[in-house]
Amino acid sequence: MKNFPSLKGKKIVVTGGAGFIGSNLCEFLISQQAQVRCLDNFATGHRHNIEHLLKDDLFELLEGDIRDLQTCQQACEGVDFVLHQAALGSVPRSIADPITTNAVNVGGFLNMLVAARDQQVKRLVYAASSSTYGDSTALPKVEENIGQPLSPYAITKYVDELYAQNFKLTYNLDTVGLRYFNVFGRKQDPQGAYAAVIPKFVQQFMKHESPQINGDGTYSRDFTYIDNVIQMNMRALTTENTEALNQVYNTAVGDRTTILSMAKDLRSFLAEKDSKIAQVEILHGPNRQGDVPHSLASIEKAQHYMGYVPTHRFQEGLKEAVDWYWEHL
Ligand SMILES: NC(=O)c1ccc[n+]([C@@H]2O[C@H](COP(=O)([O-])OP(=O)(O)OC[C@H]3O[C@@H](n4cnc5c(N)ncnc54)[C@H](O)[C@@H]3O)[C@@H](O)[C@H]2O)c1
Repeated sequence: MKNFPSLKGKKIVVTGGAGFIGSNLCEFLISQQAQVRCLDNFATGHRHNIEHLLKDDLFELLEGDIRDLQTCQQACEGVDFVLHQAALGSVPRSIADPITTNAVNVGGFLNMLVAARDQQVKRLVYAASSSTYGDSTALPKVEENIGQPLSPYAITKYVDELYAQNFKLTYNLDTVGLRYFNVFGRKQDPQGAYAAVIPKFVQQFMKHESPQINGDGTYSRDFTYIDNVIQMNMRALTTENTEALNQVYNTAVGDRTTILSMAKDLRSFLAEKDSKIAQVEILHGPNRQGDVPHSLASIEKAQHYMGYVPTHRFQEGLKEAVDWYWEHL
């Protein structure tokens, strides 16, 4: 990981800190000797993701819900920065239950903005999403050019961006939005109906079960390893370039991999550990509603304003992720 200005002694709230991305952020911040307050209601996060941090004096767990303004105010008390990760992810989940997704992703986000404003937090960095590009077919995706959202989830993430811009205008709160592109890596949950594709497939291959691709596998994604996401969060938190603030940034690698080739790479990396996995067939099902066919980010803006350079391209990240799952599943 690259060096950043020291965060030692800084107080930072990580919402969704028991989730995949949030717990990786908590862990990294603690390694930098920052003081971390993790706010999570364990809706989709897990205690085991943060268990090892609980005994650290620098770490505090605040179990609570971002839909409750008082909880958000309490979380932001005496804090320098917020890394806002809490949300209900997953396009299909939002199609099944748009009301809860909206309440958490928009209502909860607004509560955190209000709390950050009231408690005079210096900067709030938040998880935005590549789903905001919606039906725009232009590739690569550049931040200023978005289409119509294809799911309730995508709407919530776009509304968050609008609220963040407005809080600068209206209350002078500094924010940075990070449009994550298909993040993967250690601690991502393979379980449940809304599991992300990489951990889900890893688990199936490890059990010698055939994973099923939605569609013919030609859809493509800019799969982004967790360490690149941590780097962007740290850059967004520490940049002293004021022009870099109150903007949104693609958080990606700038490469595109089809779902089928991702599945084949996974199978061959796992087959190095268990040769029987090489024989596991990859199946195909129907396309899934709300999915964007292709996703590829331009990372020029992040490079220009933040000095971001991804440390892991797709296959490097995938190898590390596979090693981690092999040890931990
Ligand atoms: N993983 C990706 O590929 C990806 C892509 C784009 C955007 N994002 C965004 O990044 C963020 C983190 O995603 P993740 O992949 O780590 O998901 P995750 O589900 O592992 O983490 C989300 C965390 O938020 C917590 N949470 C949910 N509702 C809450 C509530 N009401 N109050 C308090 N905590 C709550 C969950 O318990 C969980 O720990 C989310 O905002 C997500 O929308 C993720």
